[in-house]
Amino acid sequence: MTLAIIGGTGLTQIAELSITGEQTLETPFGSPSAPYVFGELNGHSLIFLARHGNPHRIPPHKINYRANIWGLHQLGATEIIGVAAVGGIGAAMEPAKIAIPTQLIDYSYGREHTFFADELEHVTHIDFTEPYTPSLRQRILRAANTAGIEVYDGGVYGCTQGPRLETIAEIKRMANDGCDLVGMTGMPEAALARELEIPYANISVVANWAAGIVDGEITMAEIEKNLLTGMSNAIKLLKATVLSSPT
Ligand code: HPA
Repeated sequence: MTLAIIGGTGLTQIAELSITGEQTLETPFGSPSAPYVFGELNGHSLIFLARHGNPHRIPPHKINYRANIWGLHQLGATEIIGVAAVGGIGAAMEPAKIAIPTQLIDYSYGREHTFFADELEHVTHIDFTEPYTPSLRQRILRAANTAGIEVYDGGVYGCTQGPRLETIAEIKRMANDGCDLVGMTGMPEAALARELEIPYANISVVANWAAGIVDGEITMAEIEKNLLTGMSNAIKLLKATVLSSPT
């Protein structure tokens, strides 16, 4: 088993990872966001990729999601955990908290979102009833429980286009649609992993209340402060998950 972690805003590297190597790749779909970092955590080998590049420079709508996932497949990743900063819509999704969503709605557009576009022998439709692999989600939840890390089990992740944050009306619409969380990078990442049949789950770290959930504007200072706490818990959760993973 080789677990891969895709780190988002606030998680460009994992300091606890003892690095054993690094690889820059080209894929038929172009260049991934950054070199893949190979490392060991608690005796388990894993692959880390900084979704926005390292340093953090690629905005959500410009990320080459296909190259990122293809590269992980080429390197033999057998499961992927995507970590993402999000805004909280649902009452339980307080800033600095962590959620392990079960569902998603995709509001993004214009992104290269499938491997099944060209030179097909036949048209392919993946099943996406459960966008996050239930068994991987359960492992993360069990690890959280064992390590005493508070996480919210469930939630609907809504993926917006970015890079701007949303309007109050947009968040109201998303709440009406059933979204609990709003982020910009959850799709097409999850669907591409499914197309290549790689189990995939998401760890969402709440950076702020989404627009209009509380009064006032959303500030970068607020986002950075909450991510500092939230991501340090997410790293603990990743470590606990890795510890409980089959080697
Ligand atoms: N909206 C979209 N993406 C985000 C947010 C938000 O409020 N916070 C962090 N990522």
